[in-house]
This record gives sequence, C-alpha cells and structure tokens, in this order.
Amino acid sequence: MITAALPYANGLKHIGHLAGAYLPADIYVRYLKAQKRDVVFVCGSDEHGTAIPIQATKEGTTAQAIIDKYHPIIEQNFKDLGIAFDIYHRTSDPLHHTTASEFFANLEAKGDLETKTTEQYFDETANTFLADRYIKGTCPSCGNTEAYGDQCEKCGKTLSPEELINPVSTLSGKAPIKKSTTHWYLPLNRHEDFLRNWISKEHADDWRPAVVGQCKSWIDGGLQPRAVTRDLDWGIKVPIKGAEGKVLYVWFDAPIGYISATKQWAINNNKDWSPYWNDKETKLVHFIGKDNIVFHCIIFPVMLKLHGNILPENVPANEFMNLEGDKMSTSKGWSIEMEDYINKWIKKENGGEALADCLRFYLTSIAPESKDSEFTWKGFQDAVNGELVSIFANFINRTWVLMHKLCNGKVPPIHPTLLDDEDRAIMQAVKDTKEKITNLLEQYKFRDAQFEVINLARLGNQYMQKKEPWIVAKQIGTDVDAQAKIDNCMHVCLQLSANLAIFIHPFLPFTAKKMCHLMKVVDKILEWENAGEFNLLKVGYTLRAPELLFRKIEDDEIAAELAQLKANAEAKKIKMENTTTAAQDNAEKGIAPLKPEIVFDDFGKIDLRVGTIVEAKKVEKADKLLELLVDLGFEKRTILSGIAMHFNPEDIVGKQVTIVANLAPRKMRGIESKGMILMAEDANGKLFFVNPNETIAAGSTIA
Ligand code: MF3
Ligand code: ZN
Repeated sequence: MITAALPYANGLKHIGHLAGAYLPADIYVRYLKAQKRDVVFVCGSDEHGTAIPIQATKEGTTAQAIIDKYHPIIEQNFKDLGIAFDIYHRTSDPLHHTTASEFFANLEAKGDLETKTTEQYFDETANTFLADRYIKGTCPSCGNTEAYGDQCEKCGKTLSPEELINPVSTLSGKAPIKKSTTHWYLPLNRHEDFLRNWISKEHADDWRPAVVGQCKSWIDGGLQPRAVTRDLDWGIKVPIKGAEGKVLYVWFDAPIGYISATKQWAINNNKDWSPYWNDKETKLVHFIGKDNIVFHCIIFPVMLKLHGNILPENVPANEFMNLEGDKMSTSKGWSIEMEDYINKWIKKENGGEALADCLRFYLTSIAPESKDSEFTWKGFQDAVNGELVSIFANFINRTWVLMHKLCNGKVPPIHPTLLDDEDRAIMQAVKDTKEKITNLLEQYKFRDAQFEVINLARLGNQYMQKKEPWIVAKQIGTDVDAQAKIDNCMHVCLQLSANLAIFIHPFLPFTAKKMCHLMKVVDKILEWENAGEFNLLKVGYTLRAPELLFRKIEDDEIAAELAQLKANAEAKKIKMENTTTAAQDNAEKGIAPLKPEIVFDDFGKIDLRVGTIVEAKKVEKADKLLELLVDLGFEKRTILSGIAMHFNPEDIVGKQVTIVANLAPRKMRGIESKGMILMAEDANGKLFFVNPNETIAAGSTIA
C-alpha cells in the first residue's frame, strides 16, 4: 500500500513537490510492480484546507470552483510526467466524506477523543470563529506583520492564533474578540509510550535519521491533545449531534483520504480494499516531504492504531529542494511549476516525453534524501548532456548502429569458446548491479540506485571501447574468428541493453518504453526477474533501426529559463510591494482595509430597507445600547443599536435609517433585536446615519 501526500487543490504544484513525494513514490511502485508484487498506489486532491475558501473569496469565486479547476490540472500534470497512480481521488468525493465521518464517529464512540471548551478568536462583524488562516498578526519571533494563525510564512515558525501580536480577522480587518467554543481533541498524550516505543525502538534503524529525529523532538517536547475539529463551514461536517457549524480539521480528514482512495480503486477494479489497510502482512509506505512528518509519523498513526488499522512500515520523507540559491516558492515566483515545464519542454516537440524523463532523471540525481538540495538549470543541462546523452543514450545508439552495420540488424549468435574475461566481467556486472539496485531501492535510496544504472551503461561503453568491433571488422577475411568476435561483442551489448531497459524503467518509464520499441518487444520484458539474464533477446531476431533516446540541452535554452525565472520573481515582487505600500498609506490616513471581494450573489442575499425610527430609549445597564422601534412600512420592529454614546434618544425619533432587514434575530440583555441599522464611521470614530437624502416611504428597498 503506497501513498503519496495529497496535494492541496488550490494551485499549481512545482517540481520541488514532484521531487519530494511523487517521483520517489512512482519509482518505488514501478519497481514493486516489476516484481509482480500486489501493490496499490494512491493519491488525490486535498480539498478542505482553510486556504481554499480564503483564496476563493480573494478571487471572487467559490471554494468548489477552485478545487474543480485545479484537481484535473494537477492530475494531468502528474500523468504527463509519468507518475502512474492507480487512482487519483479527491477528498470532496462523497465516499471520502462518509469514510472520514465514520472514522471520526468510531473513535468518538470508543471514547478515544476528548472534548474541551476554550476561548477562541471570534469575528463579531462576520459573526464567525476564526480558524487558523482566518487570522493574521505580527509574528512573535520575526516581527513579520503578515503572519497567519497557524504559521509565519516568513520565518517558517508554527504558531497558534494566541501567539500572534495584534491579531486581526482577515474577514473584517478588525480585531477579534474571545468567545468560548467546544471542540474534539485527539489526546496524543495518552499514546506517548506507544509512540516512543514504535518510533525510537522499532524503527530507530530503518527509518531515515531525520524522520526519527523530528519525531523524537516532537515527543520530547511533550505531547498535547490536538484539536481535530474546527468552527468552519468548508469541510466534512462533524457527525455528532450538537456539533452543527463544525467540521473535521483538514489534517484529520486528509490522510483518511488514502483509505477512501483505496476504496474507490477497489470499486473500480472489483477488488476488496480491506486487506490493504487491515492485513498485518500489508506493507504501508507513505511518501511525503519533511513538512508533513508529524502528521504521518505521529498523528495519523495514532488514529490508525485506535481505529484498528495497520501502521506505516516506513515514511521516507524528503528534505526540501531549493532553486538557484533560494527557497522554492510559487507565491514569490521563484519556482518551476510542473505545468510550465510540461508546456515549455514536453509538449513543444515530437518525442517530448524524453524530456519528461530528463526532468525525472535530474530530480532523482539530486533527490534531497538526507539534506536539502538544489536545482539549477546548469545542473539540469549537465546531467542530461553529460550522463543521459553521452553515457546512456550513447551506449544504446552505438550498439544499434553497429548491430545494423556489422550484424545485419539481427541479434547475432554467441560463440561460447571465444568468450573472454571481459565478456564474463560485463555479465557479472549486470548481476551485481541488479543486487545493488534492488538493495538500494528497498532502502529508498533512489539517488544511489539511479547512479548504478548509469554506471552500468558507462561500463558498457568501456567494454565496447576495448572490444572495438569496428576495428575487428577490418580483419574479416584475414582473421577467421573476426565475425564471431563481433557477434559476441554485439550480443553482449544487446543483452546488456535489454537489462538497462529493465533497470532504467522505474526511473525513466518513457525511455524504457522507447527501448522496448527499439528491441521490438512488449513491456513484459521489463519484469524484474528478467534482470541479470543474458538471453532476453533471441538470436536471429530483427531489431528496429537506431533512434536517439535523448537530445542535448542547449545553452540558450538554459539562459532563457534563467531569465524567465528572474522575470517572474521580479514581477511578483513589484506586485507585492505595490499592494503593501498602498495598504500602509491607507492605514496612516485611517482608512480601513478593503474586505475580501464578494460575488454578486453574496450581495444579493442582503435585504436592505429604509426604516423610520418611531421610538428610542436607553437600555438599562447597557451604556452603549439604544432600543429602537423602527417602522418598516409592513411592520414595526425592535432593533438594538450600539449608538448610545453618540446620540440622544429624543434627537433621533423621526429619522430615516437603513436597515439590514433579513439579519437573523439576536438576543442582547434579554431583548430580541431583529435587524441592524447601518452607520457610517469616519476616521475619528464619529457616527452618521445612512439614509436617503429625501424622505421616502418606510419599507422602500435599497439595492
Ligand atoms: N495537503 C497536504 C500538503 O500539501 C498534504 C496532505 S497529506 C495527507 O502539505 F495525508 F493528509 F493526505
Ligand atoms: Zn516569523
């Protein structure tokens, strides 16, 4: 059971994401499948983050529209790069909602969760609690004034909303108040012994040191109950009576998405999903980036254990991949989106899939398996030109050209009596390489494993260089064994090529496919058990004409990419500077920041009416409140308004005002207020009624 982190479906994904989780997972799965092991590889969109509705508001659209836009794009991007999931599911799917709800309900019923009532930030204007990203403020550790309630993106510190200095709601731009709310918690503290034992004892040696290290420091820092519900309306409803208006925390539902995806895959393929998550013999492996470690090594395992599922056997998390000396970041324009690479390189030329493999090759060759690594366009060019073109493709090309020239385009026979040490050495090298690659892949060392494949091709070139069949060909007629020597050399080179196809396949699937085409064989030849054999191509079999596997990457292509990268970053920077200076200017003038954009439908929901104040009096023991009776033409209503500090009751009787007429009633001081009076407020805090400039009939609509 192989999983790759479910990407948030709110934007394009970059090659750092690809290198972090999806590419190594794909290599591993292709290797397992070549061994004919029973494997399912799942992924899909993570569609419930709070970032998604926030972004929707900003872009004047809906959360659903955003995920519906990005889900298919990301799915197609992965396909174009040869990432072959068995299913690419999504967490907005009803099957996932049911699966996650049942999971939660199961833990709740068994008493595995706790509830706690705490004071949390609440936006009075928007009448809603403010989860995570809905709250911004100054980061206590670096002073960034744009830090979010869950994280400061400038210094990377994980935060809780309480830690922010001068918190403001991103909905209204106003300071929030504290209000009490009840939530469900996963009491991680109850599972400390289990986690310590499982991670620091059982897996101390087979998990990556950085993964074990991060887990240990989390556990040592003291495990706290962790809230698994939120006051939001975007997400999976908490399936408990009395939990209306609450949804599951995105990090509770998303990993359950792996299970839902498996269920959907099983339905599609007429299989049983259950053994993949319940059978103790199943090996579960999560591929992720390092920012996801605690969720996959601490929180989700506790959930799985409580729910009775199997635990991951390994979580080979990668470090980060930087780009040209800086952190990769889509928002800063300093990144290479998968979509961009596909459009600029792969889709532009015939046989562009070879360029998908070029990217895969370079990313694996610099995989950040034990420390952060760095993508540079020059490095990309060097890897492709120096290794794929001059070593791997060169060997295959020479073999095919010579085989056509010296052996009539057919697999030549082998002459055992003429086999020498060099022939035997290369055959042994293939067997050794198989063992090395197998061991490395079993240990998730993809970078080293791929290096071994190239190394074998390098040996092939050296072998051919020593044998010089083109020189031997000149002795035909004088040396009776000349053709037999050529046959042996070309036979060895061809069988070696077939082995190289098997070895390169998990890393470069498009290339392996093309090699099958050259060999005129079906891809069954790529099965792992065939590796190490020297009878893969039948003697006398006619092979196709040579074709180049890769082309060189030119200097001007690299220069253009670098220029584009710098231009993108510059453009984003200017855009950001303009918005921040404008915001600062306004703040100085006392102008409140503009609220996020709404669509016409949002506005259309509000029913505004002209009303006439017919009575006004102070509310006892409430300094700020006036109790008003307002004539709306069709009825007279009681409305409470916080204007007592600004107006005398007797001065405002007879005034016309604007009423939000369809606002849900609210009780204050035992009096029910039915609606709200609109007021204008200047920079000094002085209030003004909003009314028509001539008297008109009470109840008139405003739109
Ligand atoms: N969407 C998360 C991220 O991009 C990863 C979710 S992984 C899952 O960081 F396990 F929750 F699915
Ligand atoms: Zn910070």
